[in-house]
Amino acid sequence: MKEHLVVFDTTLRDGEQSPGASMTKEEKLRVARQLERMRVDVIEAGFAAASPGDFDAIHSIARVIKESTVCSLARSNEDDIRRAGEAIGPAARGRIHTFIATSPIHMEKKLRMTPDQVVESAVRAVRYAREYTDDVEFSAEDAVRSEVDFLCRVFAAVIEAGATTINVPDTVGYSIPAVWGELMRTLIARVPGAERVVWSTHCHNDLGMAVANSLSAVLAGARQVECTINGLGERAGNASLEEVVMAVRTRADLFPVETRIDTTQIVPASKLVSQITGYPVQPNKAVVGANAFAHESGIHQDGVLKHRETYEIMRAEDVGWAQNKLVLGKHSGRNAFKSRLLALGIVLDGEEALNAAFARFKELADKKHEIFDEDLQALVSDEEAAPEGEHYKLVYSHVCSETGETPAADVTLTVGGAERKGAGVGSGPVDATFKAIESIAASGAQLLLYSVNAITTGTDAQGEVTVRLAKEGRIVNGNGADTDIVIASARAYLNALNKLQFPDRLDPQGDV
Ligand code: KIV
Ligand code: ZN
Repeated sequence: MKEHLVVFDTTLRDGEQSPGASMTKEEKLRVARQLERMRVDVIEAGFAAASPGDFDAIHSIARVIKESTVCSLARSNEDDIRRAGEAIGPAARGRIHTFIATSPIHMEKKLRMTPDQVVESAVRAVRYAREYTDDVEFSAEDAVRSEVDFLCRVFAAVIEAGATTINVPDTVGYSIPAVWGELMRTLIARVPGAERVVWSTHCHNDLGMAVANSLSAVLAGARQVECTINGLGERAGNASLEEVVMAVRTRADLFPVETRIDTTQIVPASKLVSQITGYPVQPNKAVVGANAFAHESGIHQDGVLKHRETYEIMRAEDVGWAQNKLVLGKHSGRNAFKSRLLALGIVLDGEEALNAAFARFKELADKKHEIFDEDLQALVSDEEAAPEGEHYKLVYSHVCSETGETPAADVTLTVGGAERKGAGVGSGPVDATFKAIESIAASGAQLLLYSVNAITTGTDAQGEVTVRLAKEGRIVNGNGADTDIVIASARAYLNALNKLQFPDRLDPQGDV
């Protein structure tokens, strides 16, 4: 009988701390719904005290998510914990995750607290958090550089105070698997009350060992892994959920644990997070990279054709890779469209949203005869990224690009409902279009990233564009998809401008 390994996803908190990966409330809700569909045990939805926007996103997620525990991070002080407790208030199951640094360097230089004061704060925080929920996690930030005796003292004290999960973070990605496993084993053996709590591991990837360290901790007794989709996270990122889950499943002969993750939801989750954050997935990334199941060498191809397991240890379909499946065409009706969305797990908010998405589908089907699942996903994402009432809206765009001539663009937008025209020239048609938009918007924003990916194969594929803009310390991502990449680019740019226009998050990075 295998033990349960708790999958704690922190894409919406630690993942969002990646530069430029901040998400709007709506985007966080979409990711949270996908995590729930994937049967993640705990969703760390944010850091409630970081900003009113963060609080609001956690509160909204707590209202709609029913199957997963919804968690908020909080420093070990009363204000943070009260905000976290209120944010998770509506959750069917809510957790407060409180933390304080325990390494000499953090205690002396950052907190300017003595070890005794740190223990006292940690205990007070856990006791206070228990007034809001029975599910309280405590983390010793920078555990990797903390003294083992001191860690044992802090953990024993917080278990006594009511912590139910003890998380051991490698905050700076410094450890290696043998050492990390040994630390977990030592803590479980030495800390009084260890048998009453779930031991957790939280590893960063600075030396490329976050997944290996996490798995080593599991072999040493950890029963919760903190991870993110695509390994998103501070600096080099966190342990990647898909790699941890598939390692435990593929090497069931080695691990005494199993997760309850629906692995077929992994690739859709990866694509959603990549599309929303604008962080592309490298083609050779394990499990979710475009080449993860592609065999280039003739010898490998021959082997796989004869017997798949010669070169494949996992099945592409088990992690949610579907062969570009032709699903709908221009004659498909509203019901076929709706049931295909349902099969993809996409639920639109009301009849109006469905009608708008169906109208976009018909437009797309006129331009592109074969509509694949990926097209539908992009179409719905675009629809949700461009809700009614947006400040800037594309009405018309025209671009002229000829050999030997400077590309020029004209655009017509509605700005707060009023029609405005603009023009611009640039080094290419996209650059000219952005200049034309800026001749109207004059946003003063700085373009940090422009990326375009073909959603499916073929030259009639839709291009999915991400635009990252920065203004006055805020960074936002905009997305757009169309068979015409200039139009997709204009939509993505306007989507980013709309987000800058209506800030819903005052402090995008928090300070953890
Ligand atoms: O890396 C870290 O130490 C953290 C803690 C807040 C758990 O993210
Ligand atoms: Zn972290």
